[in-house]
Amino acid sequence: MTGITAIVLAAGKGTRMNSCLPKVLHKAMGKTLICHVLDAVKQAGLANVILVVGHGADEVEAALGNEYCYAIQEPQLGTGHAVQQAVPLLSDDDSAVMVLCGDTPLLTSNTISNLYNYFKQSGADCTVMTALLDNPGYYGRIIRDKNGYLDRIVEARDANADQLAVSEINSGVYCFNKKALLEVINNISNENMQGEYYLTDAISAIKQQGGLINAFICTDPVEISGVNDRCQLAAAAKVLQMRINKQLMLSGVTINDPQSVYIESGVTVGVDTVIESQVYITGESNIGSACTIGPMVKISDSKVADGCVIGPFTYLRPGTVLGRNVKAGHFVEIKKSTIGDGSKVPHLSYIGDSIIGSGVNIGCGTITCNYDGVNKHSTEIGDDVFIGSNTNFIAPVKIGNKSTVAAGSTITEDVPDKSLAIARARQKNIIGWADTNDPRYIKK
Ligand code: UD1
Ligand code: CA
Repeated sequence: MTGITAIVLAAGKGTRMNSCLPKVLHKAMGKTLICHVLDAVKQAGLANVILVVGHGADEVEAALGNEYCYAIQEPQLGTGHAVQQAVPLLSDDDSAVMVLCGDTPLLTSNTISNLYNYFKQSGADCTVMTALLDNPGYYGRIIRDKNGYLDRIVEARDANADQLAVSEINSGVYCFNKKALLEVINNISNENMQGEYYLTDAISAIKQQGGLINAFICTDPVEISGVNDRCQLAAAAKVLQMRINKQLMLSGVTINDPQSVYIESGVTVGVDTVIESQVYITGESNIGSACTIGPMVKISDSKVADGCVIGPFTYLRPGTVLGRNVKAGHFVEIKKSTIGDGSKVPHLSYIGDSIIGSGVNIGCGTITCNYDGVNKHSTEIGDDVFIGSNTNFIAPVKIGNKSTVAAGSTITEDVPDKSLAIARARQKNIIGWADTNDPRYIKK
């Protein structure tokens, strides 16, 4: 599909989001709406992309960077007007032009390819992607002539009762012959209920000039759902969530309660890993095989090697790297730390900015005191170290290989290899203290 240009419309305000953020920058499953569309476009093999931006243009450009061509639409006078702004950026050949909307995150690359193939095989000047909906709502209606051919598209606001009863709708995704599009795009009028320049009018104009227009019916109507408010945002995110979970399950990951498991698209999970309920894995995280994760675990931008056991109630924060067969047990928070093969942090710990070797046992309640109020400091623990329960490491501090730290210690100084460190007050027992000093038991 080289040579084809995709024009992605993303200039609209998104009024119904009630947000300071441009609509297309809202995220579903950790990825902006516009990036979902752009990724599908890229996966379908369309390399030339023109983004039409307007409302919040600076923010959208800042978020997406200079990988794309931008056309500014200011003010926003409708979808036809938006495409007009992209026209000067189109290359001077007869390749096809696809038009898509930036607020349809469920559209797949497969469907984009199918639309193009249908357009190509049918030799049309414009193919409109349509869908059949039980509740066509505010979508533009597909009006067919008496022979069943696509005639024109009527917006719901401009439609009469008969037209509103039509269940075939315009998805807002089209494939155009560039020459045919250029012949009509600057001649559309704004004589309609909204006073906007409708791209849909370009399609009937192509037909009136003797061009061939047709419809490609999208078999899974969910793909064309646009996000206009936050309820639709949540609904779209749910569809994406279940797509990701399904793909993982089919690839060999056990997910016990998929509805409650949230795994973003940048995450990889190895085979035979079991994910229990209420697990969130976000960002660029990689989980190995044969791990057990959950329930109630959050993992962000972390790497977990094979055979790890994480949770319940565990939080791996960005920059965490766990070696093979590591245990990060109950109520444990680990931040920006590396933990070697076979080491265990089984209960109630905070480990931050640390490098921990292999075969280490971190006793219950141990914490690294990594922050002095201004700077972060690191704790380094060698291999085969045993840390007794309720130890505090006042970082920066280093513990040598094969050492032991006694329970309850507050470690402020480095510990050499193979040593025992005890840093706690010595216990004193005062015999008979209750009889002489404890107000509850003093004999009157
Ligand atoms: C449009 C279609 C409608 C179709 C629906 C599918 C027209 C006239 N109508 O209606 O037939 O069923 O999409 O979702 O095309 N945009 C701009 N600049 C503008 C206006 C819109 O860039 O001036 C962008 C928006 O950011 C959005 C897309 O175009 O990404 C669609 O705009 P929207 O206002 O949502 O169009 P609809 O009224 O939904
Ligand atoms: Ca819309």
